[in-house]
Amino acid sequence: MEVVITWTAEDAARVVADVVMRLVAERPAAVLGLATGTSPLGAYRLLIEEHRARKVFFAAARAVLLDEYIGLPPDHPEAYRAVIRREFTDHVDLAPDRLHGPDVWADDLPAACARYDRLLAELGGVDLQLLGIGTDGHLGFNEPGSSLRSRTRVKTLTTATRADNARFFASPDEVPHHVVTQGLGTITDARHVLLVATGKPKAEPVARAVEGPLAAVCPASVLQLHPHATVVLDEAAAAGLQLADYYREAYAGKPSWQHL
Ligand code: F6R
Repeated sequence: MEVVITWTAEDAARVVADVVMRLVAERPAAVLGLATGTSPLGAYRLLIEEHRARKVFFAAARAVLLDEYIGLPPDHPEAYRAVIRREFTDHVDLAPDRLHGPDVWADDLPAACARYDRLLAELGGVDLQLLGIGTDGHLGFNEPGSSLRSRTRVKTLTTATRADNARFFASPDEVPHHVVTQGLGTITDARHVLLVATGKPKAEPVARAVEGPLAAVCPASVLQLHPHATVVLDEAAAAGLQLADYYREAYAGKPSWQHL
């Protein structure tokens, strides 16, 4: 696992944006796995700026969602397809029909979940999966206790996750209880997984994921098994790492594209 510690959240966003830009330059038809939540927003903003400066193009790429709430109408502003369009894809040249997500409005949800896993395979697999981490160590919406080999399926959110996400809704009661999420096995099928975490509340889950035991109680620890996993942190999110000095030394002074 490569751990890149940057000074600020903006520096972390720059590293993430550079990884996406390099991938899309090398492979215009790349399949990008996009996360929602606050963690990747800085990178999305930079990518929008770079697209406006005509330095990155997404017309041949595809994007796939990591997860989606169950029970929100498709046009709800907090449905993850709507969030990703608003925060990123509608501001670049990625057509809406090249953005894919699980069909949480299907009558038969298990069949829709299996269809989503098949779609990811038919697209040739995910080249780069962007990830955030929950304060409870979740990855996607694979809450603690998730099977490390799970596939896309329905999950129930923990009280802690619903409380964390209440900030996006008018009242905490409006946060859905259920989601469809790519499983941990699905996520780790991606050729490169990149987790970005910033701010003090992420220090503890990051330390458990990166340096703790591989355990279902911290789903993000599954990244330890991945042959190409990158963790991009600011100093606050790196505060719990025992090996922080080693990571800083290993990457000191290198431009971000050389890290990864
Ligand atoms: C979002 C997702 C979640 C978030 C995580 C961190 O699609 O799957 O795992 O990445 O909850 O959320 P933020 O970035 O808002 O702290």
